[in-house]
Amino acid sequence: MQGGTTSSNNPSVQGTQPITFEITSVTPANSAITINAQGRLTVGTTSAAGTFKVSVRASNSAGTPIFTDAFTFVVRAPITFNANIQPLLQSKCSPCHTGGGQSNWNVYNTSKNSIDAILNRVQRTQGSTGFMPQNGQPLTQTEIALLQQWKTEGLKEQ
Ligand code: HEC
Repeated sequence: MQGGTTSSNNPSVQGTQPITFEITSVTPANSAITINAQGRLTVGTTSAAGTFKVSVRASNSAGTPIFTDAFTFVVRAPITFNANIQPLLQSKCSPCHTGGGQSNWNVYNTSKNSIDAILNRVQRTQGSTGFMPQNGQPLTQTEIALLQQWKTEGLKEQ
């Protein structure tokens, strides 16, 4: 995720030591992607969001390439209330919770402070007491996972 760091495993490459690892290209360009002496790729916290193709080369002590490969890193933007959560709650919880008398999930602080109650209610069995959305279709697993991930990532507003 954007704002976090992730690294690949150290590759296992055979050849006459010392072996040198290098990045030969990153498309589109991204200076936050680096490689260390053991060939481990890292995407740093300053990375933009996007999909990046990283080509790497390992060379033996004579400078002869012994390994080339390309890796794809997908760096996604953090989940935010404004971009992801408000539209979901607006579409699934209206009209009751979007200005209709119940807690208003369009208000960031209200949703943020009630995230545990929201997660609890949308994971109840359809038809059981307190199931949300009341009289509606259950949220999909993807939608529930999005709410959980929003919480994991710190309930960002924007
Ligand atoms: C058809 C109207 C309706 C819809 C749609 C609906 N709710 Fe509710 N909701 C209610 C009512 C009425 C209550 C109060 C009774 C209760 O607590 O079960 C309530 C209560 C709640 C509560 C507990 C009280 C509170 O304000 O914290 C939560 C949490 C909740 N709803 C979440 C949701 C979520 C999330 C959605 C959308 C996925 C949703 N509801 C959709 C009518 C609705």
